[in-house]
Amino acid sequence: MTETDIPDIDIPEWSSALSLGNAEIDAEHREFLARLGHVARLISQGERLQIKDAIRAMTAVLKGHFATEENFFNRVGYPQATAHLVDHVTLMNLALEIEKVIDGSEDFSTPRLALAHFAQSVIDHLTESDMAYRPYLVEAEGVEASEVG
Ligand SMILES: [Fe+2]
Ligand SMILES: [Fe+2]
Repeated sequence: MTETDIPDIDIPEWSSALSLGNAEIDAEHREFLARLGHVARLISQGERLQIKDAIRAMTAVLKGHFATEENFFNRVGYPQATAHLVDHVTLMNLALEIEKVIDGSEDFSTPRLALAHFAQSVIDHLTESDMAYRPYLVEAEGVEASEVG
């Protein structure tokens, strides 16, 4: 494996195209993408301790975000919850794997590869699996708004 075999990691910033129409979820997605982008920049600069700190911070944000979504799924009885939870577990394992391979890698090629794989998977999750529960979120917001009003 040489450096050139590793794909460049291009992390998009959050944009309204990714909006699920819910301020809390959108803010969590925005923060997660910002932290993922930060990890990608640090990993290309090779600052070992900073990379590990940034990965831990990103993973903590992701963990909190997954809990937000999973609580919502429980609350509304989301029918795709089980498959979505499996996705979350897989993504979390990929995120933890990046940190694990940092120490054994001189040139960060393995962590960069792990990050590229994680980034692709997590962006697919955002644009497909997360988008799939958007209608439930919109409906729940509507119900709550009418209960209040
Ligand atoms: Fe999400
Ligand atoms: Fe999700």
